[in-house]
Amino acid sequence: MTADPLERSLDRHEQLNRHEQLTGPAPPPDPRPPVLRTARESDLPELRRIDEEVFQEVAYPGFLLRQLYDLYAGHFLVLDEGEGRLRGYVLAATTALGRDSWILGLCVTHDRRRHGLGRELMVEVLARLRGSGVEKVRLTVEPANRAATLLYRSLGFHPEEPDAGLRRDYFGPGLDRQVMCLELTRGR
Ligand SMILES: CC(C)(COP(=O)(O)OP(=O)(O)OC[C@H]1O[C@@H](n2cnc3c(N)ncnc32)[C@H](O)[C@@H]1OP(=O)(O)O)[C@@H](O)C(=O)NCCC(=O)NCCS
Repeated sequence: MTADPLERSLDRHEQLNRHEQLTGPAPPPDPRPPVLRTARESDLPELRRIDEEVFQEVAYPGFLLRQLYDLYAGHFLVLDEGEGRLRGYVLAATTALGRDSWILGLCVTHDRRRHGLGRELMVEVLARLRGSGVEKVRLTVEPANRAATLLYRSLGFHPEEPDAGLRRDYFGPGLDRQVMCLELTRGR
């Protein structure tokens, strides 16, 4: 079959314009996936911004975020989209004896959710904790937070008994949380 003569006479750019007239503008290309890396001191203002954007009234105060960075920098990971823009973070804190850790923060900004980034952050921080000899990881999750709960369950976390992990007023009156935990075994 020969091509339409008009089609043949159009250069590539003109063909694209004609295609756009028929179908509407092409959707913007997917932004490049952000790079996962260890947090740096210079990330602190941006970390504070996304923490406040996601967690609002329960965001970490700036001074605490700073000191958490000082204490746990190796297990403070960010998603860097370039030019200083962050799209998420995870923070794990290890207890004094070095065997147990807590996930103290995990978030992905709204515009980047459901692309596997939350899972990527968790998988990497768990690998680093395992490499540091940590044996058990705990975290708390709001009982109604389905997205986070499903993510944690898919990674092997389970509610820590008693009461199916439910701790009433854990963060103060009315602020119930479920405690979940994961045993880290070598090579898993
Ligand atoms: C929880 C959070 C980090 C997940 O990040 P994300 O990048 O969107 O998650 P992913 O795309 O990696 O999804 C991983 C898994 O989480 C679960 N999940 C994530 N979002 C979900 C949703 N909206 N509904 C149902 N399940 C969801 C799914 O099991 C998913 O696996 P699947 O894609 O194979 O179905 C993100 O929703 C977030 O920042 N929420 C607000 C902050 C928060 O709740 N943090 C946790 C506090 S404990």
